[in-house]
Amino acid sequence: MSTPLLAIIGGSGLYDLPGLTDTRWETVSTPWGAPSDQIFRGRLGQAELAFLPRHGRGHRIPPSEVNYRANIAALKQLGATDVLSLSAVGSLRADLPPGSFVVVDQFIDRTTQRAGSFFGTGLVAHVSLAHPVCPRLGSHVTAALQAQGVPHVRGGTYLAIEGPQFSTLAESQLYRSWNCSVIGMTNMPEARLAREAELCYASVGMVTDFDCWHPAHDAVTVDAVIQVLLGNAQTARTLVASLAETITQDASAAACPCRHALDHALITAPDA
Ligand code: ADE
Repeated sequence: MSTPLLAIIGGSGLYDLPGLTDTRWETVSTPWGAPSDQIFRGRLGQAELAFLPRHGRGHRIPPSEVNYRANIAALKQLGATDVLSLSAVGSLRADLPPGSFVVVDQFIDRTTQRAGSFFGTGLVAHVSLAHPVCPRLGSHVTAALQAQGVPHVRGGTYLAIEGPQFSTLAESQLYRSWNCSVIGMTNMPEARLAREAELCYASVGMVTDFDCWHPAHDAVTVDAVIQVLLGNAQTARTLVASLAETITQDASAAACPCRHALDHALITAPDA
């Protein structure tokens, strides 16, 4: 089996993993511009790892200005096979309190200002997004959270907003009426692009707040979000380490449909 390369898109600080060897920062440039930062590379057991701080080190880049195409293209160029997306989310459900982890399986995209495809004029492609995350990778993530005893649920719809403001009460109530589980500002168009790039993509939302719909939690505060995130850091690191091990043992990965998404896409290009 060829060596899998697990890419992790998330905050900085995730790469402080015991046993990580051959570490270095790599600069990657892409036809879509520069990714959010250099990429931190290393090896853990049999797995190659690549960490990309989504907002850049020091959290410099707001969600609307992240170059999602460059981020996914850079990981693909490095040879990534699997992408674990970690992000802070607000909860839209009473049974998902801060501290919960949600293995997201659907998205509703309400972003408005982001380039959302590698395709366009000249080369047109329509890939399927009916099932936007990789069930195989999702199973590994869920098993790892289960083994760690982390409160989590598998499955849930992520509502992506443009931000940078949090939602109004009416919006938050609307998204609840749509049966969404969590709300965040970063997973779209990241998930779309991962599919176009034929990467296996799993997203874990780390619940930091109840958004603003909850009667006992009036408004989201950045302080509350940061406090919960700091508390989650070790869980996230353990998840990465565990996933690095399990993906090296998964002989079914090469045949995963995510890695062949363009085989079934409707693609049209001008005659050469
Ligand atoms: N990220 C963390 N909490 C959030 C919320 N309530 N809305 C949007 N993005 C978030």
